[in-house]
Amino acid sequence: MVSVTVDGQEVEVEEGATVLDAAEKLDIDIPTLCYLEDLNEPGSCRVCLVEIEGEENYQPSCVYNVTDGLEVRTNTPGVIEARKKMIELLLSDHPFDCLTCAANQNCELQSIAKQHGIRDIDFDGERNEFPVDDLSPALVREPSKCIRCRRCISVCSEIQEVHIYDINERGFDSVAAPAFNESLMDTPCITCGQCIMVCPTGALHGQDDKQKVWDALADDTKHVVIQTAPAIRVT
Ligand code: FES
Repeated sequence: MVSVTVDGQEVEVEEGATVLDAAEKLDIDIPTLCYLEDLNEPGSCRVCLVEIEGEENYQPSCVYNVTDGLEVRTNTPGVIEARKKMIELLLSDHPFDCLTCAANQNCELQSIAKQHGIRDIDFDGERNEFPVDDLSPALVREPSKCIRCRRCISVCSEIQEVHIYDINERGFDSVAAPAFNESLMDTPCITCGQCIMVCPTGALHGQDDKQKVWDALADDTKHVVIQTAPAIRVT
């Protein structure tokens, strides 16, 4: 076991544990997007940044292994600002159609943006515009909403062992998609829906999910109440 201090509280965790594990043990909440415990830990979204004593840059807590005596701060103004920038960068390449998106009110990116009080973004520039694939009888892919978290890849490959998705292209054009950007219809997809369950945005959803959102918008009695995430305490 090793001893770690997170926000002034000491905790013992197993060697090889991450900072996120240590924080969880103390009930300290660190936001995550790409992370799925024991399944998907690519350290790609960077919204789980924390400050580590002795490190020059903020570090992603989900992939940073603890060492004995490590000191971590999770909620300084600098950490919160760094996380906000990461979220803004994700939003800067994301369509702003939340109101009519199939994942409206059920979107981790939307929720995390609200939690951090993000109403506007500073980054203007190019956005990817990939075509929607709605040919499958059950699933719809909206790749322009993909944040490359790789959750769909992990669940499809490691849990379902179907291996439909991978990251296509490189850099700004990269996106989680079937090989050669084929339609899901032309793949061995078994329409299990596991990829929908883990997708943190509206990039993957069911055929009738968008209609449900539109029905709710059209019907005041069913109108979804805007979730207000707990305020972030900055020390
Ligand atoms: Fe840690 Fe995405 S949750 S990098």
